[in-house]
Amino acid sequence: MGDNMQLPNYKEAKHRGKENVEKETYSFDDTYRSLGKGKTYYVKTYGCQMNEHDTENIKAMLEQLSFTEIDSYEKADLILLNTCSIRENAHNKAFGMLGRIKHLKQERPNLIVGVCGCMAQEEGVIDSIMKHYRFVNFVFGTHNLHRLPEVLHKAMTEQKQEIEVYSKEGNIIEDMPVKRANSFKAYVNIIYGCDKFCTYCIVPYTRGKQRSRAKEDILSEVQVLVRDGYQEVTLLGQNVNAYGKDFHNGYGLASLLEDVAKTGIPRVRFMTSHPWDFTDDMIDVIAKYPNIMPSIHLPVQSGSDHILKLMGRRYTKDTYLTLFHKMKERIPGVSISTDIIVGFPGETEEDFQETLDLVHTCKFDNAFSFVFSKREGTPAAKLEDATSEEEKNERLYRLNDVLNQYFLENNQKLVGSIVPVLVEGKNASLKTSLYGYTDTNKLINFDGEEDLIGKIVSVRVTESKTWSLDGTLVEGTDKERSASTCSNH
Ligand code: SAH
Ligand code: SF4
Ligand code: F3S
Repeated sequence: MGDNMQLPNYKEAKHRGKENVEKETYSFDDTYRSLGKGKTYYVKTYGCQMNEHDTENIKAMLEQLSFTEIDSYEKADLILLNTCSIRENAHNKAFGMLGRIKHLKQERPNLIVGVCGCMAQEEGVIDSIMKHYRFVNFVFGTHNLHRLPEVLHKAMTEQKQEIEVYSKEGNIIEDMPVKRANSFKAYVNIIYGCDKFCTYCIVPYTRGKQRSRAKEDILSEVQVLVRDGYQEVTLLGQNVNAYGKDFHNGYGLASLLEDVAKTGIPRVRFMTSHPWDFTDDMIDVIAKYPNIMPSIHLPVQSGSDHILKLMGRRYTKDTYLTLFHKMKERIPGVSISTDIIVGFPGETEEDFQETLDLVHTCKFDNAFSFVFSKREGTPAAKLEDATSEEEKNERLYRLNDVLNQYFLENNQKLVGSIVPVLVEGKNASLKTSLYGYTDTNKLINFDGEEDLIGKIVSVRVTESKTWSLDGTLVEGTDKERSASTCSNH
């Protein structure tokens, strides 16, 4: 064990202090530059877009240390798992992977193994790594990503398990290096952490207090992306609508969206939105700028007021529906997707019927549905839960049946229309050669030349499926939305 080991502590993690979050600039100690010379690395990422983006920073730091990326973990000299805590399933996957790595390590004792991400912020997980996964060389958390070079250097030179996890968030680190997964679409962090404390959710503990990034830093990052020819940015946060609340100067998501749209980036997306903080100003800005995509992810979680209250979501079915209808009225052709949890402790068949009823009203374009997963340390973990797993799974099937029916129905309405599509890649197995996403965030497959990848083109929708569309290319590159005749509502 490292003498300077720092472990996570939920009591501290829960605490929301009044101190201001400062900005720090990432600095790289050049003495570590050849730490990974001649060695390869593999990073496995679990969880949300924020983790995916953290991985882009991690990869760039590893390359500063002279490691080179390899696409097979079995051959890598360093394996790093960037983990997620959101549901039991995510845990199981990461621990399953650690099991496979254990065997590799028996064959290759010099293999370097690291764990980071949200699971590293969990007390129980660190405990387990120290007791049962002694072969893990190093662990760092979500608050000290920027310390990877130091942590790894210690782990490699001192030959002991190096664990450095801060319980509480620190400053916002600017100018981290980044190795972007794509050359045409990019993630940009705008707000870190979450203060909502929905009773089922682990994120406020693993990601800390809500902190907004300075608008100048966000805008200059986007300007560089525009200069480099990027077509799309996705502004990221666990609750992007709370952006700027900690500035107390009135500059919020509506203002930021407007400023980002004015940079001229062809497509702006943002996620995730909490219904509680969604203002009329934000809706108006989305409606006003053609380069802000008409696609909103608006998790509802449940249609029952009783369950919403137990979840601590701070809205009712009615207030959600009012917001939903306002968006549909004011933003032409907007697609709205959602997240739903079934089987929250105390959810009755009547509560579940309220959720189905809401789905019948909203007819979502897309949705992610989950069975409630108990997260130790959250308030919901202590609630009495009489519903069997079997019953919960059955509710999930019934919910998905209804959701799928509306996905298809919405897609059918697009058949015959011409939609703008950002071409993202080649299809390996389908008959059609290319795929991309429409302005309303629908996956579409069509034939075309490979050099269209990374460009926005017009595609006529010819066929609809539940989770995708088929289409034919109308012409070459396109100016977003101007050529769109899509109107699906
Ligand atoms: N910040 C986002 C959600 C992030 S987590 C928001 O508030 O909308 C993504 C989704 O995972 C959540 O919307 C929720 O539906 C689901 N989720 C979170 N905790 C969960 C749990 N304990 N069990 C099951 N699903 C959960
Ligand atoms: Fe979790 Fe709620 Fe925060 Fe979303 S808003 S990250 S569900 S606590
Ligand atoms: Fe998972 Fe952490 Fe994201 S818990 S969903 S990786 S913020």
